[in-house]
Amino acid sequence: MFEGSIELVNVTKEFNVGQPLSKIALNDVSLTVRQGEFVGLLGMNGSGKSTLARLVNGLIKPTAGKVYVNGLDTAASRSLIEIRRQVGMVFQNPDNQIISSIVEEDIAFGPENLGLSRAEISERVEWSLQAVGLTELRQHAPHMLSGGQKQKVAIACALAMRPSHLVLDEPTSMLDPRGRRELGEILTALNQEYNITVILISHNMEDVVGADRIVVLHQGGIYMTGTPAEVFTASEQLAAAGLRPPEIVQLAENLRRSGFQIDRNIITVPKMVEYLCQS
Ligand SMILES: Nc1ncnc2c1ncn2[C@@H]1O[C@H](COP(=O)(O)OP(=O)(O)OP(=O)(O)O)[C@@H](O)[C@H]1O
Ligand SMILES: [Mg+2]
Repeated sequence: MFEGSIELVNVTKEFNVGQPLSKIALNDVSLTVRQGEFVGLLGMNGSGKSTLARLVNGLIKPTAGKVYVNGLDTAASRSLIEIRRQVGMVFQNPDNQIISSIVEEDIAFGPENLGLSRAEISERVEWSLQAVGLTELRQHAPHMLSGGQKQKVAIACALAMRPSHLVLDEPTSMLDPRGRRELGEILTALNQEYNITVILISHNMEDVVGADRIVVLHQGGIYMTGTPAEVFTASEQLAAAGLRPPEIVQLAENLRRSGFQIDRNIITVPKMVEYLCQS
């Protein structure tokens, strides 16, 4: 069930082709994300992140090139239902994703549409509630929940489809620091315990410091890829793509300039605290 990969092969996406306002949002992008990988997708406004996300679950089709999800071509209409089941999507605004007036009904909605048995539906709802830590709020009205709790509902809805991959387009941008941290912990747990692929789009560098790989988009192309430590310590290159590394990386950089020997892999506050307390 949790097997495969997401593959973009020479993908170009042009909007309004042949019209005065035509726009190439992605230009010849090739990217393979293997099953179980946690990828942080970064880039300034308009760099093509949401376009890439929408291509991956077949909401839009490439103008040229191919997008494959677990080997299924997103341009083949007959595969779309299966592709959307295998790629769970979570967007910026959780309010737009709520359908029902009770949390557990909201989560059951997708599986019900798959025509599954009652037993299977309820098992999936239980598992999804538990995976995001919402079991106690199952009878609540989603609209009454906090932004962070609503995003957990959105993730639970995606999980109830038993996806192999999750693509999240700025899910933390409307959350407070605590909500952001909790969401990060849930995504890490889903990735590590169930080997679900996570592609997390964010403007917040701290959200993706724990990713396996960072991909930076710039002007519709892949500009940089590497581990978080590799990407975040290349501050000049990042700046040229309109991005700033996390503050703790900037601090480490400043300390290095002042002669401190600080490992380049130290890119989080806890690691920095550990290092400073040892030395
Ligand atoms: N439906 C559309 N029609 C025309 N142009 C579009 C459409 N969708 C996106 N674009 C353009 O394509 C480019 C990439 O947009 P995209 O939404 O993928 O960027 P993004 O990296 O997600 O930006 P943001 O950080 O602001 O969300 C932008 O110039 C945008 O204006
Ligand atoms: Mg976007």
